[in-house]
Amino acid sequence: MTTDAQFWNKIARRYAANPVKDMSSYEQTLERAGSYLHADDSVLELGCGTATTALLLAPQVTQYTATDIADEMIAIGREKAVNQGASNVELVTATSDDARFSDGSRDAVLAFNLFHLVDDMDATLDMAHAALKPGGCLISKTACLGEASFFVPLMVRAMQMVGKAPFVRFFKIAELEQMIIAKGFDIIETGCYPAKPPSRFIVSRKR
Ligand SMILES: C[S@@+](CC[C@H](N)C(=O)[O-])C[C@H]1O[C@@H](n2cnc3c(N)ncnc32)[C@H](O)[C@@H]1O
Repeated sequence: MTTDAQFWNKIARRYAANPVKDMSSYEQTLERAGSYLHADDSVLELGCGTATTALLLAPQVTQYTATDIADEMIAIGREKAVNQGASNVELVTATSDDARFSDGSRDAVLAFNLFHLVDDMDATLDMAHAALKPGGCLISKTACLGEASFFVPLMVRAMQMVGKAPFVRFFKIAELEQMIIAKGFDIIETGCYPAKPPSRFIVSRKR
């Protein structure tokens, strides 16, 4: 098991107990992401956490696979899926570059609050591209902490030194968007929910 998986396993129950911090930004994200989903879609979500978003979006589609690196997040997600009677949600422990999903069968790949936590973004974007049908959408939201005050990276590094923060990448918005474009996607919608520090919402279509 990787150090990152251990970190997220350890905090999973606490993470699940915390309410969404900024409900208005969350609702905007759900509304914009949901507007790209269709009743006959097959969706793959990366880094789903405890499946809160998965369980809200799954009723809009036929099949929804929610994945996360942390077993404990997936276990909580399964409990929630059973309690809510979700019949079309499959929960799988997997890293964001897991080749099992590279089969070109998905209409949408979703990744919320994940990319800044992923060490190998090249492999993750390659997998998302390979998982999608031609014209399928990669819909993501990413904290772009490279746009925040210089104080934020200092604070994160201090927390990492005492094991209180996982791997974090300090993206600039332009850098993140260039990475996505370079991997074979056209960006078709962007936004920041919230604006400060920017959490960049990006919808991109597989070329
Ligand atoms: C900040 S949480 C976001 C969870 C959920 N997407 C949300 O928006 O509430 C990040 C999640 O990504 C998962 N994660 C971190 N690195 C990952 C990786 N390389 N592959 C898959 N999941 C990862 C963590 O276990 C955690 O559940």
